[in-house]
Order: sequence, then C-alpha cells, then structure tokens
Amino acid sequence: MSPLHITRTLPEDATEAALRADVLSGLTTVPKRLPPKWFYDARGSELFERITELPEYYPTRAEREILATRSGEIAAASGARTLVELGSGSSEKTRHLIDALPALAAYVPVDVSESALTRAGRALVEERPGLRVHALIADFTAPLTLPATPGPRLVAFLGGTIGNLLPAERARFLASVRALLAPGDGLLLGTDLVKDERVLVRAYDDAAGVTAAFNRNVLAVINRELGADFDPEAFEHVALWDAGREWIEMRLRSRTAQSVKVPALNLAVDFAAGEELRTEVSAKFRQEGVTAELAAAGLELTHWWTDAQGRFALSLSVVR
Ligand code: SAH
Ligand code: AVI
Repeated sequence: MSPLHITRTLPEDATEAALRADVLSGLTTVPKRLPPKWFYDARGSELFERITELPEYYPTRAEREILATRSGEIAAASGARTLVELGSGSSEKTRHLIDALPALAAYVPVDVSESALTRAGRALVEERPGLRVHALIADFTAPLTLPATPGPRLVAFLGGTIGNLLPAERARFLASVRALLAPGDGLLLGTDLVKDERVLVRAYDDAAGVTAAFNRNVLAVINRELGADFDPEAFEHVALWDAGREWIEMRLRSRTAQSVKVPALNLAVDFAAGEELRTEVSAKFRQEGVTAELAAAGLELTHWWTDAQGRFALSLSVVR
C-alpha cells in the first residue's frame, strides 16, 4: 500500500480567522449572507453524502452516469498522469476516472473538509495499491500550490460545486485554475443544467429534511467555533429558484424576532421575524454560458457530455 500524504496548506488559526471574518461581514450586512464553504465540518460532509443518495437530488446520479460512460473518452483526451480534484469530498464518482486513466501516477484531492479527505484518502490507498494519494486541506478559492507530480495534469471540479461560487468569484476561480495549467493539462468541469423549476426546488427541499439539516448545520458550526448561541430550529429552511439569475438560493428564515450572541466576535446579531440569511447559491448552467466563462479565463471547451436526460454536463478543456 502506498502511503497517504495529507498536507494542510493553511494553518488551523487561518481557517478560524477566515470564519470570523466571514461571519462578521456576513451577519452585519443587509441582507445577511454566509459563504457555503462553512457547511462542511464532519457532520456537514456526512449530511452532504446523505443528500447525494436522496431520490430528489439527481445531480450526483446524473454526473456518475456521465463518468461511468465517458471516462474512457475523457482519459483518452487528457492522457493525465496526475489527477487533481478540487472539492473532492468522498471521491466516490472519481473512481471511474481513476480506473480509466492508464498512466495515472498521482491523485491530489483538495478539500476544506479534513474528515472527508482523510476518509476518502485512506480508502483509496487501500483499494488502489501503487497510486500515490497526496491530499491537500486547502481552500480552492485561495492560491494553490500543487505537489510536484508528473504531468500532464487533469484538474477535475465535479458535482456542480462551481455553481456555489458567485459569478465574479467564478471568473477569478477559473482564471486561477487556468494559471495552474501547462500545455497538455486539462480542466474537467461538472455543471448542473437549467431545468424545470419544480425539479430544481425539490432537489434542494427534500421530503426527508436532509437538506434542511445540512443548511442549519452552518449555525452549529458557528456555535461550536465562535461560541455563538444560535438555535438552529428557530430558523426555517428555504430553497427558491431565482429565474433571472438562474440559480437556486438556500436561505435560513428566522421564525421569530431574536437576538443571537457571537462571543468570539463580541457581537449580538438581531433577526427580525421572517428575516432571511442567504447560505448558498447553486447556479445552473447552459452550454453557451459555460463556453463563454471558460473562454473568458483563457480555456477552450473541447468536449461536452451530458447524461441521457440532459440534466447535468461535464465539459473538458485541454490547454494547447
Ligand atoms: N465533488 C464531490 C463533493 C461535492 S460537495 C461530489 O461531487 O460529490 C462540495 C465539496 O467541496 C465538499 O467536500 C466541501 O468540503 C468542498 N468545498 C466547499 N468549498 C470549498 C472551498 N472553498 N475550498 C475547498 N473545498 C471546498
Ligand atoms: C456541492 N454543491 C454542488 C451542492 C449543490 O447542489 O449546490 C451543495 C448542496 N446544497 C444543497 N444540496 C446540495
């Protein structure tokens, strides 16, 4: 079994400083908002895995279908010897790609969730002897330093997680990915596609309430890390489709007028009854938009694959 390397690129206190800064700015502006990366402590990562198994949450199944049927073509087009995966989570679907890349020497999963990275990394080094797994605990929106592994590299960003970035953040993110790539390297991007509003809203407001628990988990993270006294059940889970921006928005709506203390910030935050805190956007895409956003970052979309029902797309850009 080859060893699992885990590198923390940010010191733990930097993560805490980033959470403090995001909570301070997000809870003192109108309307209130928080970035979605704070969902993913160990419980949040587990809840996300349960979401991927829900009957209403189609993106994981749709993307898995594409990977299961197209990994051979992706492998042939990329010829990668290193697979870097941003926001890798459980790395579950990635196994299709790992198995299809004949010359793969190294897998570099990158995630803010240490628990998800450790669990996925341990399983992979056991299942795939000879594969070097070098996990990075890192924020993919910050500058990344990748380990020295053989090229060409394929950077995979799956799950539709790009949709959790706001448009300006996406532009900065894609430009920073482009800067990591050398000729022959590629980007494999998963994007959820625009579709019927009812299908979309159901995927983010499931009958079993797992997405509601995932949404409220961000309050539990702030309670634990910053000593806050949020009562997560005092907030209602809201998922709505913004047809103009073509994104799903998740919010937490205060059931009553209430004041929440955040001792680590010396802050009291007032919520009016019905006031909403935006916790996530999940943008949905069309092929023209993906092509244009990639082009603006200096990347040419060379392949576009969807599942049979046209719900989700994988696109590949190989740098010339
Ligand atoms: N790619 C997996 C997981 C998607 S969930 C799939 O398709 O199923 C989103 C993942 O991105 C989570 O594991 C979360 O911890 C990670 N993540 C979210 N924001 C991040 C950030 N800014 N930097 C690094 N990882 C992030
Ligand atoms: C990780 N990301 C692509 C998920 C999504 O669909 O936007 C996160 C999620 N939020 C609610 N359910 C799933």
